[in-house]
Amino acid sequence: MEKYVIKGGTPLVGEVEIGGAKNAALAILAAATMSSETVYIDNMPDEADTNVMLQAMSSIGVLIERTGRHSVKINASQITNHTIENDYIKKIRASYYLIGALLGKYKTAQVVLPGGCNIGLRPIDQHIKGFTALGANVSIEHGMIDAKADKLVGNHIYLDVVSVGATINIMMAAVMAEGKTIIENAAKEPHVVDFANFLNSMGANIKGAGTDVIRIRGVERLHGTEYTIIPDQIEAGTFMVAAAATMGDVTVKNVIPKHLESISAKLVEMGCQVQESDDAVRVVATKRLQKTNVKTLPYPGFPTDMQPQITVALGLASGVSLVTESIFENRFKYVDELTRMGANIKVEGSTAIIDGIDKYTGADISAPDLRAGAALVIAGLTAEGFTTVEDIRYIERGYEEFDAKLRELGAQITKVDSDRELQKFKLRYA
Ligand code: EPZ
Repeated sequence: MEKYVIKGGTPLVGEVEIGGAKNAALAILAAATMSSETVYIDNMPDEADTNVMLQAMSSIGVLIERTGRHSVKINASQITNHTIENDYIKKIRASYYLIGALLGKYKTAQVVLPGGCNIGLRPIDQHIKGFTALGANVSIEHGMIDAKADKLVGNHIYLDVVSVGATINIMMAAVMAEGKTIIENAAKEPHVVDFANFLNSMGANIKGAGTDVIRIRGVERLHGTEYTIIPDQIEAGTFMVAAAATMGDVTVKNVIPKHLESISAKLVEMGCQVQESDDAVRVVATKRLQKTNVKTLPYPGFPTDMQPQITVALGLASGVSLVTESIFENRFKYVDELTRMGANIKVEGSTAIIDGIDKYTGADISAPDLRAGAALVIAGLTAEGFTTVEDIRYIERGYEEFDAKLRELGAQITKVDSDRELQKFKLRYA
């Protein structure tokens, strides 16, 4: 099994290019099946989750051509069926976007229930509520979601919780429905806005994305388009926090600084310098980080997908910090692993109480999920001695070339596949 081995203690210094947003890409790929014309997508991240989505689309007859590592040409004019059973797809959360896409265009979809990172219960009741409000019959049988409608008709839908997935899925079901749909209490994340922009570039009529209220007027068809996905807010944030935790100086390039403001603000409170330019953010840490409190919230609040990374950094800050997770109930599983590296963190309910230590010490740990995995790598980069991180398949779901990008910044990290390779690395950096 591949794992990362890290020799910690080197500050990250230099520049790193951020790729396209995974969580925008997953929704955009699914929605590309809603046009019978060719769709060209650029700045698509080459990660396990996006590749699984493409495989699932190809399993129902969507023609997919990789025109470059980060660009793809999609033509869904010859879809052969509307049932997605592909074994891999159930492992990714975003499989549920294929329900909204197929239901929206073909009025029928059968898709295996979504999996994804084990960070909490993750119900899909709000998605189902939206589909039903538009006129679909939705049932769950034998592990499959079955959604069907004679026709879809616009409606006024109030979401009980702010959900990225439900907002996007309902947009897909509504975009070709008869009449007008209003989604209230909609998610405002950058990838929700990017997704709406993508649909509008195919001829949809969606207004208000990025606010609490999204208004959609149904159109008869969606045409082909060429679209470039926005930069990944969370990949960028991860490198920003890695710079801070390692006492580094990193310029994170190809980003939208506005999307990173909640992260930048916390890093400033922790004593870092953060300089923004048009499409880059530079993070410099020259003195020990200071405590602060963080609460995860829907956008524009601090993202839950950055919670493990900031906790790792606060684990090294002077004083006691509180981190409260308000989106997912089971997102502190990595704290046990961090404790093995010397962290002094107690989790009470949805809050982690972090008493900062001087330094982590290297240990053999494993990634419990995607973002926690990246956070543990950051801990390893700061730690005294060697750290090995197992189960890196989780990290590879959402970070392209994570180890290579870190090496470019001076990190001593490599992916190994055998004990021999592990020993070789340790000898080299002993
Ligand atoms: C998306 O998940 C992301 N995944 C997650 O990223 C991210 O953590 C999350 O949004 C929050 O930003 C994808 O985009 C593929 P939600 P999603 O629906 O859409 C509750 C990563 O690391 N809820 O916004 O599944 C839910 O339990 C991943 O990249 C309901 O109660 O999240 C949670 O408490 C992990 N009923 C809250 O809403 C529903 O029907 C927000 O979840 C739907 C959600």
